[in-house]
Amino acid sequence: MTISGFIYLFCNSLLGRGEMLAGPANLISRRVEGPQRGNLMFKLCLRVRRGPSVSHLGRAHTFRPIALAGRPLFEYPRPRKDTSLRLARRAPPRAPCPAPRPSEPRSAARDSHCGRRNIMDLRLAGRRALVTGAGKGIGRSTVKALHAAGARVVAVSRTQADLDSLVRECPGTETVCVDLADWEATEQALRGVGPVDLLVNNAAVAFLQPFLEVTKEAYDMSFNVNLRAVIQVSQIVARGLIARGAPGVIVNVSSQASQRGLTNHSVYCSTKGALDILTKVMAVELGPHKIRVNAVNPTVVMTPMGQAAWSDPQKAKAMLDRIPLGRFAEMENVVDTILFLLSDHSSMTTGSTVPVDGGFLAT
Ligand SMILES: NC(=O)c1ccc[n+]([C@@H]2O[C@H](COP(=O)([O-])OP(=O)(O)OC[C@H]3O[C@@H](n4cnc5c(N)ncnc54)[C@H](OP(=O)(O)O)[C@@H]3O)[C@@H](O)[C@H]2O)c1
Repeated sequence: MTISGFIYLFCNSLLGRGEMLAGPANLISRRVEGPQRGNLMFKLCLRVRRGPSVSHLGRAHTFRPIALAGRPLFEYPRPRKDTSLRLARRAPPRAPCPAPRPSEPRSAARDSHCGRRNIMDLRLAGRRALVTGAGKGIGRSTVKALHAAGARVVAVSRTQADLDSLVRECPGTETVCVDLADWEATEQALRGVGPVDLLVNNAAVAFLQPFLEVTKEAYDMSFNVNLRAVIQVSQIVARGLIARGAPGVIVNVSSQASQRGLTNHSVYCSTKGALDILTKVMAVELGPHKIRVNAVNPTVVMTPMGQAAWSDPQKAKAMLDRIPLGRFAEMENVVDTILFLLSDHSSMTTGSTVPVDGGFLAT
């Protein structure tokens, strides 16, 4: 006797009074999986529960679904298939993220190889993005992430070799080599840049000087790059958006230094404090044109700029002691926030200054 035949008879004897089951075919067609696979007899600690009366083959029968380990073996009439649940249960496991190549920054490896960003589809594909300060550090990582997300990127920086190597890594990236401290040169270089949907004002310089030794050169260069260029490039992009009647997003890369006094950072802190309030005014004025403007305010990141300022372990420890999470930010922490602010996932957020600071500004 087959297994299913045995179960059929056994179940009918349990139910008695000539009650009829839907037949062994139900059992045969049922796949028994996992720990229940194997010896089917075993679990003939079948629980019999009272079920509804159904009409089967023209006769009224009392039908009692049989449960195996608490789960019904079959039901009659068959319930509608809940496809969504089945799909969710049967979704194939995601491939594990491969380890980043040693030569690559963590975020770039993650972007190009494992697509973890797909967890939240940022829908940036096809958008045209301009990133300033794209040669190194956060700007370079932002370009790579945007490129990996399918955006068309214009990378602006002042060292041609950096831009050349960036294009080799991210084919198709357009480049503009210009010193953003030079108003006229910037005007000329970006005049024909074409339609831009997303702008990341990232370029900045940091000259660390005690307040009593601040020089005119450091002041001029800092404000020209960290603030004036933001105004100039944003004007070019925003005017283009308004002329096209297109929505757009601007993200200004500010700093935790915008809101705290840091020794030897008087000019840098001032430029970033000014950038925070510029962000809010731009949001107020450009909002009616459907252009959102936000800032990200990172703590220390070990880019070339971060290394220049925070490589001294004693100095770094003093800063780390003020960060509740006890670490500096990774490049990808900042890039993830920039991409979120560029995406429609933040479509109701404008005029914000978003800390990526491990809690530094909360203290
Ligand atoms: N790193 C940190 O700890 C930290 C913390 C908070 C906020 N931030 C902010 O994050 C942003 C990026 O910083 P980062 O650490 O990535 O800096 P970075 O490593 O020094 O890179 C800055 C990039 O901007 C370019 N750049 C600077 N001045 C320029 C100019 N006048 N014209 C065109 N390009 C120019 C640089 O080009 P060259 O190399 O050719 O000069 C470089 O490619 C900045 O706004 C910075 O204030 C950084």
